[in-house]
Amino acid sequence: MRCQPGTQPITTPRLLLRRFTLADAKPMFDGWASDAKQTRYLTWNPHETVQDTIDFLRPWVAKYDEMPPAYRWAVCLKDSGKLIGSISCNFYEEDEDPHPGYVLAHGATGQGYAHEALVGMLAYMVQMAGAEVFWAEHAKENTASGKVLRRVGFVYDHEAVYESRDHTRRWPSRIYRLDAAQFEADIPVTF
Ligand SMILES: CC(C)(COP(=O)(O)OP(=O)(O)OC[C@H]1O[C@@H](n2cnc3c(N)ncnc32)[C@H](O)[C@@H]1OP(=O)(O)O)[C@@H](O)C(=O)NCCC(=O)NCCS
Repeated sequence: MRCQPGTQPITTPRLLLRRFTLADAKPMFDGWASDAKQTRYLTWNPHETVQDTIDFLRPWVAKYDEMPPAYRWAVCLKDSGKLIGSISCNFYEEDEDPHPGYVLAHGATGQGYAHEALVGMLAYMVQMAGAEVFWAEHAKENTASGKVLRRVGFVYDHEAVYESRDHTRRWPSRIYRLDAAQFEADIPVTF
């Protein structure tokens, strides 16, 4: 990427994307981190206590000010400030490209919030960080995630397999690619 602006606020018509703080632990635990359904395709296991979520958030918060910085946003409703999800760009050793990932709280799905948050984050990563290519992966059976990716222009590239961090769960997956030149935000985004 051309530069490393880190995680800065992003606004879309209905959402504010901002940095996580440890104060987000309880709504994150209640909204999705403790929920076996919302976390079933994520690489980590559902949390059993709010303390698990605090311990999970601590390194996220610390990494905002490291170099290279973390790109991880708390997705909040603009009107109420309510925390409804998480969206991030992750970086892996195999390439230098951002890999988006997202999860919504139960009760926040089916309303286009994942689409809106993804468009906001991609616009930011292209315009502020100079990202040129994005890669995304979803479990084949996680069709909702595939829809979100295709709607912003991601194109299927190849098949793969991923597994949970504790190696107890494995999913055949689909890998998608998006070239920044092919991406156009279909909603207003400001940062
Ligand atoms: C993946 C996930 C974020 C997708 O959530 P989602 O609610 O399907 O996606 P969106 O928020 O973009 O909502 C899209 C739906 O809202 C509807 N919608 C309603 N109002 C809308 C609006 N203003 N704009 C866009 N879509 C709108 C769309 O029609 C669409 O429904 P459809 O799929 O039946 O056509 C969600 O299923 C989730 O949190 N899953 C668990 C975590 C996960 O698997 N993460 C991905 C790991 S790879």
